[in-house]
Amino acid sequence: MATKVILDCDPGIDDALAIAFAYGHPGIQLVGITTVAGNVGLDRTTANALAVCDFIGARVPVIEGCATPLVRPALDARKVHGESGLGGAVLPVPMSRRAEGHAVDFIVSTVLDAPGEITLVATGPLTNIALAVRREPRLVRSVRDFVIMGGSSGRGNTTPAAEYNMWADPEAAAAVFGAGWTVTMLGLDVTLRSGASAAVLERMSGMGALGHELLLPALGGYRSSAVGGGQPVHDVCAVVHVAEPGLFGFVPALVSVETAGRLTSGMTVTDFEADDGNARVAMTIDTSRFWELTLGTYASLAAAMAEITRSPVPPTG
Ligand code: BDR
Ligand code: CA
Repeated sequence: MATKVILDCDPGIDDALAIAFAYGHPGIQLVGITTVAGNVGLDRTTANALAVCDFIGARVPVIEGCATPLVRPALDARKVHGESGLGGAVLPVPMSRRAEGHAVDFIVSTVLDAPGEITLVATGPLTNIALAVRREPRLVRSVRDFVIMGGSSGRGNTTPAAEYNMWADPEAAAAVFGAGWTVTMLGLDVTLRSGASAAVLERMSGMGALGHELLLPALGGYRSSAVGGGQPVHDVCAVVHVAEPGLFGFVPALVSVETAGRLTSGMTVTDFEADDGNARVAMTIDTSRFWELTLGTYASLAAAMAEITRSPVPPTG
């Protein structure tokens, strides 16, 4: 049976690619997409989520969340993801509208209505999740799993110490890691090994509209580079892990988020020796199997999109 997933995200190039993967993989049932300010402002992350869903044919509710971090001013990563947040991809203006309500309410009610069934995946700053768990502490016992792309047990990418999602809202990240659940953390040191090689891009170029209008132009405008070259698809790692848990190797750890450090704000201080852990931290990735699975999923999605284009719904009336 497919795993039910709520994807809390800030599209964002790699968030957009994560949406496409989550929708396209048969092992995931995407029950909702919640948006948060992060790579770009909230209006844009919501519009981008809607545009990606419309483009790939996903009828998934998109619910808007927080426009600002818990206590700090909102910053963004337009320098990395481009003004629109989708790099060089220019998708049609979405026809779909966001669903009524607030992301925090949606997360709380959806998870509590189906205890043990929903995997919560966060690929942006953790503002919505922090507020959800503060509002309803039973969330920590009611989720099936909680998976994030964020943090690092090594280097940062926004400062030498901090990864972007943690740096953007460290108080939220600290609250989330301290909430009493086990966080499955796919951090930067591992996701930086998910670079899209020339061979990966070549395969994408055979994927029709999905490749030529979303994947390739988005990655082409991504001002970020992976260890070993290519653009890293950080956020895709989190949803791939849900679909195929064996591709990453994890080590238990106690992760504490620095909120006071002048040079280290947002750093995820990772203690692998602690007795009481709060996280499973990814340390390895099988990059070739990762890309086989990801490209296979995109190819199936591309074929489904082409089929819809070939047999449009006949006009009514
Ligand atoms: C993370 O930061 C964002 O810019 C990306 O979308 C990803 O979630 C990588 O550090
Ligand atoms: Ca993101």
